[in-house]
Amino acid sequence: MPHTSSLPQEARGAQHEEREPQEARSATPLLHLPTSTSGPSATPKAEVSSMRRLKGLKCRVCSETYELCPKHVCEFCFGPLEVDYDYDVIASVISREKIQRGPNSIWRYQDLLPVEGTPRVNLEAGFTPLVRADRLAKRLGIKELYIKNDTANPTWSFKDRVVSVALSRAVEFGFDTAACASTGNLANSVAAHAAHAGLKCFVFIPADLEVGKVMNSLIYAPHVVAVRGNYDEVNRLCSEIADRTKWAFVNVNVRPYYSEGSKTLAYEVAEQLGWRAPDHVVVPIASGSLLTKVHKGFGELKKLKLIEDTHVRISGAQAEGCSPVVQAYDQGLDFVTPVKPSTIAKSLAIGNPADGPFVLDIIRETKGAAALVTDDEIVEGMKLLAETEGIFTETAGGVTIGVLKKLAEAGKIKPDETTVAYITGIGLKTQEALAGRVGEPYQIDPNLNSFESALKDVLAAAS
Ligand SMILES: Cc1ncc(COP(=O)(O)O)c(C=O)c1O
Ligand SMILES: [Zn+2]
Repeated sequence: MPHTSSLPQEARGAQHEEREPQEARSATPLLHLPTSTSGPSATPKAEVSSMRRLKGLKCRVCSETYELCPKHVCEFCFGPLEVDYDYDVIASVISREKIQRGPNSIWRYQDLLPVEGTPRVNLEAGFTPLVRADRLAKRLGIKELYIKNDTANPTWSFKDRVVSVALSRAVEFGFDTAACASTGNLANSVAAHAAHAGLKCFVFIPADLEVGKVMNSLIYAPHVVAVRGNYDEVNRLCSEIADRTKWAFVNVNVRPYYSEGSKTLAYEVAEQLGWRAPDHVVVPIASGSLLTKVHKGFGELKKLKLIEDTHVRISGAQAEGCSPVVQAYDQGLDFVTPVKPSTIAKSLAIGNPADGPFVLDIIRETKGAAALVTDDEIVEGMKLLAETEGIFTETAGGVTIGVLKKLAEAGKIKPDETTVAYITGIGLKTQEALAGRVGEPYQIDPNLNSFESALKDVLAAAS
């Protein structure tokens, strides 16, 4: 049985002490998890004074402030915490030119990310292609459409952005064990980044995930824990484990740092459009973190005058079998009622989305829209993107393209709006969804006659 590890001294508030040797504190079996000491007394005070750009953490509901530490819930109102920046300090150091001189990865935007020194957990995520999608645009009646192709990340999903930020920060806090509750892609990314950085690793997933997602975690040799339950149950379990261990759960105790990584999906799009924001973006929703941070990212660029003060409409996409945010939007509610997910878009199968109310606010405030698609429409969306643009996305991307199509057909995306669809994960991980839906290879013998007779059949069938 693997052993638990401890949060080192600096994250417990005692600075500059020698870390205990690993052997001396690693004899605790998993079932006797040590109690966490996180909380205000665990605040790493020395970090704060050295980071003027980073003011601390702030409650998104009641605005209570905290020093930077591995903490994600407000003690006063239980609201979520987020990183609070000093934008005057950032404005004095950031410029388009400085960004353009930076690395071809998310780290070119480090002035806007909550990592202090050289990123210590780095597989060079980000800087993925923004593909002009004229053939798809024509099919949908849109003039200027782009696909942000985030399948091109190290573990083939946008999760590499959030994980490299979360784990770089976690290492700065002194953690030596990475963990997460995942619908699949996050587990792949945490496992890969932990391997690269030499961190111990536990990933928790629902037991019924696609083979491709499970394999893509196992290959990096983390501890993969398959929970007989859905994601919301996995997440609840992980919150309990996070309270009792000293592990960096990227989307639990270090969630404020993790979620900031998604802002780079706004920064890159604006930079790739020639320092211009699009008019409309379509974003898939699971917990809703990605959508809220894309919004925050464009807002920051405007605040810092790196782009003009244009208005970005933000639309959200969900699968019919897990659409709590879209249902709340359609009913005019400002809260989300949890659902029990049942959809082929397993990576979006979060029935109780943590950021649901914030997503509703953003969609309404930006005059975007929210829509859902059926499982059949998800597969059609995957095929449409592949056939028109040569990009093979997973079921979550099928949701995005299906919703893009619906919104264009309904006139909710205007033909003259510069539109970006965020394609956040690769199709090779969700091949089950395509079984029997993409035709079959022609079987021939290894000779010319056999090929020519097959070709005749093909041409006859096509005419
Ligand atoms: C491929 C893909 N796209 C989008 C999302 C949605 O992310 P969020 O939970 O930030 O809404 C996920 C979440 O796991 C995902 O795996
Ligand atoms: Zn609060």
